[in-house]
Amino acid sequence: MINRILLTLFLPISLIAQVPNYSEDIAPIIYDHCLKCHYSGGIGPINLETYANTVANSGMIQHVTSSGEMPPWPPDTLYRSYAYENILNIDEINTILDWITNGSPLGDTSLLPTMPTFSNSSQLGVADLEMQIPTYSSTAGPGNDDYVCFSIPSYLTQNRQIRAIEVIPGNIQIVHHVIVSLDPFPNNSVVTTPNCMGPQGGTIYTWAPGSVPLVFPENQNNSFGVNLPANSSLSLAMHYPEGSFGQIDSTKVKIYFYPQNTTIREITSDYLINEGLFGQPFILPPNQVTEITGTYGPTAQDYSFMSVFPHMHLLGKYIEMYAVTPANDTINLVRINNWDFEWQGAYLFEKFIKIPAGSVIYANGTYDNTPSPANPNPVTVQSGLNTQDEMFVGIFQFLPYQTGDEDILLGDVVIPTNFNTINTSSSNKRLINVTDIRGGAVESKKNTPLIYIYDNGTVEKKIIID
Ligand code: HEC
Repeated sequence: MINRILLTLFLPISLIAQVPNYSEDIAPIIYDHCLKCHYSGGIGPINLETYANTVANSGMIQHVTSSGEMPPWPPDTLYRSYAYENILNIDEINTILDWITNGSPLGDTSLLPTMPTFSNSSQLGVADLEMQIPTYSSTAGPGNDDYVCFSIPSYLTQNRQIRAIEVIPGNIQIVHHVIVSLDPFPNNSVVTTPNCMGPQGGTIYTWAPGSVPLVFPENQNNSFGVNLPANSSLSLAMHYPEGSFGQIDSTKVKIYFYPQNTTIREITSDYLINEGLFGQPFILPPNQVTEITGTYGPTAQDYSFMSVFPHMHLLGKYIEMYAVTPANDTINLVRINNWDFEWQGAYLFEKFIKIPAGSVIYANGTYDNTPSPANPNPVTVQSGLNTQDEMFVGIFQFLPYQTGDEDILLGDVVIPTNFNTINTSSSNKRLINVTDIRGGAVESKKNTPLIYIYDNGTVEKKIIID
């Protein structure tokens, strides 16, 4: 009896003591999980840098965090975790709720953590190759987004091996995502493809607001990377959201090479699940939900899987991919319970995943072609590449397995402070050719943009001003 009285007396006191405050409890959550998009000038529509702004939007914050809408992280984390996962755990969601229901106290501001800063400047420094889309004005009006691809020639004269890649959005307020892929067709100038939603070849990297650059892992015995063949082009599939009409962008991609003649373990990117694209075509009749399945395998050898990039268009609702090994073990790869085209991307596994020889990859997808505000008059939709078509693909980055791969961390790669200086390519190169921007041979001229091609395969576009 005495015990029970003590409990009822002390319980409310201990609860009051635990009321979360902004400085100690809320700011750390917002700084870590939200600011990368919700800083002033970022892509998020509200700025959450200050206490006042956080309080002013607290109702909405509570709503979007408890519904799981924010931070945007589509994969089902109970199915599989990834590197650079941005999610709130249940304690953090409850802390936000507790804080709001207790009047959103500020707390002691001397205990505020240091506010992180974000910008669109490079984290990796001077690159070996920079490719930039031409200045582009978004065509996304009210009610429609702009999806456009730019294939940019590399002008490389030799094969090089990519060690790292970084996307620098030109206009951080309107670049919603960028898919960088290797365009196998050589171009002499930039090729612009409107109405283009996906990669135009093997995917190397996907960028969304808050993404970190991709630095391939490297250790004593292994240098992982991707080959960039001579004369190849890189394609940037851009997504500018609704309402960005008339705003200007000029996004660039920065490429860092390994020193020449480095033996790399080459990472391949391939459409292992490719229904409709190079595989079985499919149709989605109007006014119904349709399920599509795909398989790949059995795999010919042991592989190390690095990332998975599930891709559907606007009618996609659900997608799941997993491997089943010859020993009948299931290896979960990705599951997205509420597919949202706006928030797609490649997901980097925490470590390489070993997929043993003889495994089969299974994929299940659901498409909803019933009437909705976004699709008021459904029509038959076919598989294809255009925005009005649908896709069902799973793009994987992988390579032949070697013992120990499954212990190699893929995320949180520490960028060496001397990262750009250890690239030997810029130090002892010799100019071998100068061309105009269309690739035609010219003499070096002043006050004109020209392409300078060096013997180590690197290229610079520059204007020598007199
Ligand atoms: C990867 C970028 C990104 C991150 C991280 C992010 N947001 Fe957002 N947020 C957006 C974008 C973009 C929108 C606009 C709606 C949309 O596109 O879904 C948005 C919308 C919102 C809205 C609705 C605003 C409105 O006017 O409708 C709220 C509230 C919000 N975010 C809060 C948060 C909180 C809280 C966090 C952290 C827990 C967070 N967001 C993390 C990008 C982000």
